[in-house]
Amino acid sequence: MDEESKEYKQKDWQRHYDENDMGWDLGQVAPPFVRLWEEGILPLGKVLIPGCGRGHEVLFLAENGFEVTGVDFSEGAVTHLKNSLMERNLKGQILYQDFFSLDNSHDGVYDLTLEQTFFCAISPWQRQDYVQNVSRLLKPGGLLVGLFYHTDKEGGPPYNTTREDIETHFSENFKILKLEKESLSAEQRKDKEWLGILKKKD
Ligand SMILES: C[S@@+](CC[C@H](N)C(=O)[O-])C[C@H]1O[C@@H](n2cnc3c(N)ncnc32)[C@H](O)[C@@H]1O
Repeated sequence: MDEESKEYKQKDWQRHYDENDMGWDLGQVAPPFVRLWEEGILPLGKVLIPGCGRGHEVLFLAENGFEVTGVDFSEGAVTHLKNSLMERNLKGQILYQDFFSLDNSHDGVYDLTLEQTFFCAISPWQRQDYVQNVSRLLKPGGLLVGLFYHTDKEGGPPYNTTREDIETHFSENFKILKLEKESLSAEQRKDKEWLGILKKKD
């Protein structure tokens, strides 16, 4: 098989939702994000969550006063999340589209981009594009807060993310404020997640 045909496409992600096969879904907001919120590290304002899936982070932040935009190109994720927001009487903008094609009405809009298991879900060749897009969408000085998955395995998704990967891709556009192995990770990801807090350079 050539590299192109091995690639994960939108329909492959959608199949996970159709078959209720979402091994990545923690069923709750990732505990490190709750700690960061308690510590007041997440700037209250407009937050973008790319590849939000069923959106535990979207719900948590919407409940706590953030103006949340979640993006996912799987219909199964978006429908589930919109229903969850409605059931809880919460507001949030949920976009059913490719993160890489957000139009320029989103440029410089967000105080915070928060993500887990999205950087590892996209193909490695898209990583620089990811950096350019997050940078484009954040306000000057905005934060990217991410849990990056250090699988230590070949192939993917999830694609392995090392400290060097993060430093190499982000250093030009972002100041790395924090990059360390996370201690509060969910059991299945213990010692396998980098918590990155990165600030967009002006
Ligand atoms: C591994 S899942 C993680 C979901 C969520 N972040 C979580 O941790 O529960 C990756 C998600 O990214 C979505 N996705 C992958 N590539 C995407 C893209 N280019 N644009 C929008 N969503 C994408 C998939 O549909 C899937 O819901």
